[in-house]
Amino acid sequence: MDYTEKVMDHFMNPRNVGKIENADAIAEVGNPSCGDVIKMYLRIQGETIEDIKFQTFGCGAAIAVSSQTTEMVKGKSLKEALDLTRDQVAEELGGLPPIKMHCSNLAADALHQAVKTYMKEHGLS
Ligand code: FES
Repeated sequence: MDYTEKVMDHFMNPRNVGKIENADAIAEVGNPSCGDVIKMYLRIQGETIEDIKFQTFGCGAAIAVSSQTTEMVKGKSLKEALDLTRDQVAEELGGLPPIKMHCSNLAADALHQAVKTYMKEHGLS
């Protein structure tokens, strides 16, 4: 299975790349199976993700998944972000080759880690 057009689009033109200065939440996650790393930055207002950016040092699939993930949670609540699964992200991209499914772990893991840390620090549940 080749990459879908949507995966290629997000890889060639990734959305929300970069960092947010003085971000409210940051998480960095590495993929032990390949060594790739993603860093995610969140700007949070109340319980809403106002802005989100990422830096991914990894394969094309990981970049596409990171980009898609940020689009899916920007403007959403912290709870909605926690409910987002890597499978939903892969589905939204039209699927990933089975051998690249592990690449979809990073973005969801980084997002969840950043949100959980923020909620813990702010007494939210
Ligand atoms: Fe490492 Fe895809 S090969 S995240």
